[in-house]
Amino acid sequence: MDAQSTPPLRDAWYYALPSERLKKGDMVPKNLLGEPVIIGRDKEGKAFALVDICPHRGIPLRFGKFDGCEIECCYHGWRFAPSGVCTDIPTLIDEQKPELTKVKVRSYPVQEVQGGIWIFFGDKPETAPPVPVLPGLEGHEPKMVVTMMFDGSIDHSVVGLVDPAHATFIHKAWFWRSPKSIRNKAKKFAPSPFGFTMVRHPPSANSRAYKLLNFLLGKPEGTEIVFQLPGVRYEHIRVGGHIMCHLTTLTPITEFETEINHSVFWTAPILTLLRPLFWPFARTFLRQDRDVISQQQEGLKHNPQLLLLGDPDVQARWYFRLKNEFVRAQEENRPFVNPIKERTLQWRS
Ligand code: FES
Ligand SMILES: [Fe+2]
Repeated sequence: MDAQSTPPLRDAWYYALPSERLKKGDMVPKNLLGEPVIIGRDKEGKAFALVDICPHRGIPLRFGKFDGCEIECCYHGWRFAPSGVCTDIPTLIDEQKPELTKVKVRSYPVQEVQGGIWIFFGDKPETAPPVPVLPGLEGHEPKMVVTMMFDGSIDHSVVGLVDPAHATFIHKAWFWRSPKSIRNKAKKFAPSPFGFTMVRHPPSANSRAYKLLNFLLGKPEGTEIVFQLPGVRYEHIRVGGHIMCHLTTLTPITEFETEINHSVFWTAPILTLLRPLFWPFARTFLRQDRDVISQQQEGLKHNPQLLLLGDPDVQARWYFRLKNEFVRAQEENRPFVNPIKERTLQWRS
């Protein structure tokens, strides 16, 4: 990890996988927060997550078999239920079988919300920032999810995500905005649970994406951007009686690699027709963010003193304050107190 970053937060829910990538009877191995995890879906459709290590002799369970009910370890055939409890040790004679319920693979709490599988890392789910529920999209699943790996810590990835000043220089694609369109912006922010919100406002007049929405669905009524710990941001747009929402989640894979999942939801059927067009746009956009984060690593290796300056960097400073407060509240065993105060921020973008 670079010297400017601190370890990923524990006692938090992290986005693990889009629901559609985990079919009944599947198990998907994944490294998350430096831990080997196996994410599965039983034949009833319930998702679960276990440490991907057999408690017998430590081989990863992913090399075994899952029949939709139990995982069988490849090495000596020990069997485990999705809860992690051992159900059979076929190589022992009956008289030698221990109380099997005492043999367990550690399991993680899992929630599946709006087409995303979230896994809890830590001990106290009660005090954790809740898994976000996108307003007006209850029961909806994303219409597309783009996944990409960033070559940086979750801290630098979050700072990149909430940074309003880079768009003009990094996201220069013709379909997004003209590089000449930089102008003064003033946006009002308010504290929100475990984070902050850019309160609902008319969308940027210099964004071509908004112009397209305007053309297809009518005048956008307003957009709101919510950030919450540990690394969740969503932009919620109301337009012509419909909703469009971009949910971006950051999940630490290791201390210096972060997976980003960008899920896009919409309720207007006409947008579904345009999905083949959105796909390359979303990928281009995320690639631009990924490339700049990986270039940044070259400088960070030398441990420079960084300069977070003025209103464009206030959201980055807020992120670090929120993260510090969350850690301190855990250490002091007290409730989290949101340190953010309502404020208008100004910048040029
Ligand atoms: S290592 Fe898994 S059953 Fe032996
Ligand atoms: Fe970006």
